[in-house]
Amino acid sequence: TGDVTLDVGFVNTAACKSAITYIDGDAGILRYRGYPIEQLAESSSFLETSYLLIYGELPTAEQLSAFDSRLRRHTLLVEDMKNFFDGFPRDAHPMSVLASGVAALGTFYQDSHDPYDPEAVETQTFRLMAKLPTIAAYAFRKSQGRSLLYPNNDYNLVENFLWMTFGQPTEPFDLDPDLAKALDLLFILHADHEQNCSTSTVRLVGSSEADLFASISAGIQALSGPLHGGANSAVLSMLNKIKSEGGDVAEFVRKVKNKEDGVKLMGFGHRVYKNYDPRATIVKKTAHEMFEKRAASNPLLELAMELEATALEDDYFVERKLYPNVDFYTGLIYESMGFPSDMFTVLFAIGRLPGWIAQYREMINDPATKIGRPRQVYTGSAERSFVPVDERG
Ligand code: CMC
Repeated sequence: TGDVTLDVGFVNTAACKSAITYIDGDAGILRYRGYPIEQLAESSSFLETSYLLIYGELPTAEQLSAFDSRLRRHTLLVEDMKNFFDGFPRDAHPMSVLASGVAALGTFYQDSHDPYDPEAVETQTFRLMAKLPTIAAYAFRKSQGRSLLYPNNDYNLVENFLWMTFGQPTEPFDLDPDLAKALDLLFILHADHEQNCSTSTVRLVGSSEADLFASISAGIQALSGPLHGGANSAVLSMLNKIKSEGGDVAEFVRKVKNKEDGVKLMGFGHRVYKNYDPRATIVKKTAHEMFEKRAASNPLLELAMELEATALEDDYFVERKLYPNVDFYTGLIYESMGFPSDMFTVLFAIGRLPGWIAQYREMINDPATKIGRPRQVYTGSAERSFVPVDERG
């Protein structure tokens, strides 16, 4: 094993070259294709940002409109897909339903699965981008025992998702433009984050020349864990637990520092950011604006702020450079929008999809790509001889 270097968790190993997302973790900088996240959050839309990530440049007005209308034509699911939703238990986690739904798409589209066929990859791109919100909304409706709603292609992608999630089949839909705008912004913030766990999964699966549906389905599963996308719902559970136990923030921080029962401050810390996550800055501001606009105070937001302030003053967090990450405040916003906590990571997945697709396409088009196949340092027995079962003891 002399020729391999042990790097558990790939802390220091780059697995690819990429021109998509730039992060400077010490300075707290994030850019998609060179554009600062703050500018995209302020001035772009999720649709436009998706185009930017996938094709490398901001679209012209015509390109954006063509992208939008092509997406609108793909929002429907094959009717037989409903059998899947019928078959899943009602209390199935929507992330499992989402990953299964994406894997199932691969069974319905029998056209080319060849990753080197650019037209096939392009078609799969549109199918995935357009249908993931439909699958996500179906997963939600199923968990609520409510009827499934067909997409309404008068709406754009984000509005359509809100309609399919919260609409009533018998009533006109009162689309809240502030809510749609806030969700659009959150999707922009989640749209890519270079080689995180789920994106690396998409690339690893895709490196075997598996198609986009298979690779993205695996990415969704990777995102579901609490150390990754699942952190957004874990933060809300943590805040609720602290509140139900009397709201003693200092006591909670003490437990975290002593690593009592393995308790962590969820929504804090990051492999790359050793500074405030720039996405968290924007999310925090959005949370404040939302609650102010509704003239609603949210005790959990106040608790989260107290927790953040206490942690940021504490040596444990200062020494380890632990700051709030994107997941710290998003759950509070999603909850106020009316999403149950098991849907939070589904929302993350919708936002991350264009990034996964862009990374898959970059990998497939990179002549340097090889199948991902890490090495290991073997720690098991040296060679020994087999002993028949009746001679063992
Ligand atoms: N609470 C308490 N201690 C922490 C935390 C935390 N949230 N994060 C890191 N630490 C400690 C860790 O115990 C270690 O301490 P020590 O040196 O005494 O053993 C030190 O800080 C370094 O942490 P690490 O575990 O080596 O860092 P990592 O890069 O392997 O892990 C992380 C990164 C995000 C998994 C981790 O910070 C974490 O578990 N955070 C909580 C879960 C979370 O919020 N995840 C969302 C990540 S951001 C967006 C996304 O991917 O979804």
